[in-house]
Amino acid sequence: GSTYYMEPYRPQFHFTPEEKWMNDPNGLVYHKGVYHLFYQYYPDDIVWGPMHWGHAVSKDMVHWEHKPIALYPDENGLIFSGSAVLDINNTSGFGTKENPALVAIFTYHLMEGEKAGRKDFQTQGIAYSLDNGDSWMKYEGNPVIGNYGIKDFRDPKVFWNEKEELWTMLLVAGDHLQIWNSPNLKEWEYVSEFGKDQGAHGGVWECPDLFPLQVEGTDEVRWVLLISINPGAPNGGSGTQYFVGDFDGKTFTSDQKENKWLDLGRDNYAGVTYNNTPNNERIFIGWMSNWDYARDTPTEKWRSAMTVPRTLSLHKPNGNYELNNYPIPNFESLLDKGVTAQDIPIAANRTHTMKMIGQNQSEIRFTTTARDFVVSLKNDSADSLAIAMDGKNNMLNFDRRTSGLTDFKDNFATGVQKMPMPNLPDGPIEIRILLDASSIELFVNQGQYVMTNQIFPRDVYTKLEFLNRSNKEIKVNQFSECGVKRVW
Ligand code: FRU
Repeated sequence: GSTYYMEPYRPQFHFTPEEKWMNDPNGLVYHKGVYHLFYQYYPDDIVWGPMHWGHAVSKDMVHWEHKPIALYPDENGLIFSGSAVLDINNTSGFGTKENPALVAIFTYHLMEGEKAGRKDFQTQGIAYSLDNGDSWMKYEGNPVIGNYGIKDFRDPKVFWNEKEELWTMLLVAGDHLQIWNSPNLKEWEYVSEFGKDQGAHGGVWECPDLFPLQVEGTDEVRWVLLISINPGAPNGGSGTQYFVGDFDGKTFTSDQKENKWLDLGRDNYAGVTYNNTPNNERIFIGWMSNWDYARDTPTEKWRSAMTVPRTLSLHKPNGNYELNNYPIPNFESLLDKGVTAQDIPIAANRTHTMKMIGQNQSEIRFTTTARDFVVSLKNDSADSLAIAMDGKNNMLNFDRRTSGLTDFKDNFATGVQKMPMPNLPDGPIEIRILLDASSIELFVNQGQYVMTNQIFPRDVYTKLEFLNRSNKEIKVNQFSECGVKRVW
């Protein structure tokens, strides 16, 4: 533990930079037993500024080690979001078959171009590493994709396209997705586009990702496209939508009519998944903030955190495709001492109160068949955070308006956040809450419906209340609260 990690609101089991500003996760790639996490980083201030790629590594995605900054701005511009691949067949010629290169693919943002009112200020560049990410060389032929007059043209996600035996790049271009292919990561050819008249369009499209997933319990494989959008999320500001469809190696298509969201909280943005994981697991990390107020949250040494890594899975309840996200199994290794209880009866319209043990670093989990209740976390400073299940409307209402400090920005806690849960099954469901200093991650039914939110309580939450809002007795079948070990 560094002394930096003792400040108020500092998460203790989430990834945060030691100091200064962080936004999107970048370059998520697994190589030689190491999970790399690069991220949008400004080393000189706790607000957004000229972007670099910060770097951290982990063997278990639970404990992280900070590394030196990986990519610095150069004459082509600042280093915006992007991805990384392992070039196993040395298609780029940057490495050898024996020591293939890690290749980072990112957006160059030319600030002077933007200031001059031009639209071609974003291009795509690449860099490579032959020492497992410790040092990086920019490709001398950068940029590898120029810009032909598109204002927002960024966030390349590259993966190996098995059908075409080529590299595929997803790029966002303002209000839609573009797909490009390349044999060698250096020469790119435009192939197709998607989304001009599909999905939510309340803001600019950012940070795409595309991958196949097998529908749980079937042989069916579908492709899932993630698109971050800012603004335009259902509960305001930044959010992550997804599309379920097909990818034939060149074109992505989807007959999805309604807009779907990976997370209905306000603080899960720009999330993408790992390339090259063992066993092809689809592991997602998001940035736990929202551009509505990201620059204004009440921390001083550093700003913002990543979500816990989550496993993505595809399901089809009642014939509807749903993308679930749930903490990776290895997260359980952090669970510490706890309390458990069974079959807690709560009379109609009554409240059951429990003392919390976790010191704002805890996991609260319970199962219940009840569908009309409110769980509140409270402290001695009169802060109260309320999570209300409304069975009649299949809705979950998340209210952080009185959860602690909120007035650092007027749009932080304007209304109650709503999460529709149209396909929630009958019977007992699990509610799992991860609380870490300044964040709450809420997983309903193993990640079927998820909300991630920042909070800034003035004090440790000490009381957990269950209010039975129905007019018959309910039971909380299994309850546990565990401390979560600090990883810093
Ligand atoms: C998303 C985003 C990306 C961009 C980066 C800049 O949060 O706006 O589209 O590459 O942040 O830091």
